[in-house]
Amino acid sequence: MTQGLASLEYVTEEWILEIVNLAERLSAVAAGEARCEAMRGRLLANLFFEASTRTRMSFEAAMKRLGGDVLNLNDLKSSSVSKGESLHDTILVADGYADVIVLRHPMEGAAVFSDDLSNAPVINGGDGSGRHPTQTLLDLATIQSAHGRLDVDIVIAGDLRYGRTVHSLARALSRFGARIILSSPNSLSMPDEVIIDIQNRGSSVEHVPELSEAVKEADVVYMTRIQRERFPDDDEYDRVAGTFRLMAKDLDDVRPDLIIMHPLPRVDEIEQSIDATRHARYFEQSANGVKVRMALLCTLLGIEPEVLT
Ligand code: NCD
Repeated sequence: MTQGLASLEYVTEEWILEIVNLAERLSAVAAGEARCEAMRGRLLANLFFEASTRTRMSFEAAMKRLGGDVLNLNDLKSSSVSKGESLHDTILVADGYADVIVLRHPMEGAAVFSDDLSNAPVINGGDGSGRHPTQTLLDLATIQSAHGRLDVDIVIAGDLRYGRTVHSLARALSRFGARIILSSPNSLSMPDEVIIDIQNRGSSVEHVPELSEAVKEADVVYMTRIQRERFPDDDEYDRVAGTFRLMAKDLDDVRPDLIIMHPLPRVDEIEQSIDATRHARYFEQSANGVKVRMALLCTLLGIEPEVLT
């Protein structure tokens, strides 16, 4: 067990469920309807070496709603990174300023490396195509709140090769007995190492390349964007861009309580008219990021939050 959260592989299922439960207790604080001062006097350093909207903003919202404050390194051009400072040195500097660090970095393994180095806990906000554990925590909270269980039938779809959210989510759900159905373009299939991890945990993995077929058997459809920035060249991206989309007509024969999730940003992989259906859950999912990250911050910093109404 590390002191931060580089990967969910280092924590137990009980720990994960405690975060989900604590997040639920903090719902009113996340919505600004109740107060909690758990992070008063604490500072979080947001170190983002890649673009982010939700992860950065929701950590900031979580920290501020809990009475804490945030230091942001988001304009790399005006920071010392542009002078050639190493990740090693940037982490040690942030460690000197803040009580907890959130790191997003293009290099797989960057969070493990940084968490080993830093006294302050380092939370992985996404490491290249590797993992995205805090996204998975909020994904699990969203599934739990919709279905009351995690042993769901889930279709995980889109860019399974480069998408870090699906690498973390598939691994985590296999620990809770989910039935995992993978659907992707051929060239973007799930890496073998993730499939082996899932199977080692006792979950079966099915492959249904035709998305409109796969969705009929699902309690959850988890769509993802094709990760353009991870492709070695634009030609390869152009070959798959726009080919894998969930359309409103695909929802004719689905289970009534199917939920459709997406970590966002969406490009064109979910037809916009789906937003108005009872199945769409992606904006609620994104909002859940605040309470889940609140629960995570309290847990990593060893603070029992007291909710004041
Ligand atoms: C995801 C990411 O950064 O991996 N975004 C997020 O954190 N919600 C998904 C993506 O970029 O496609």
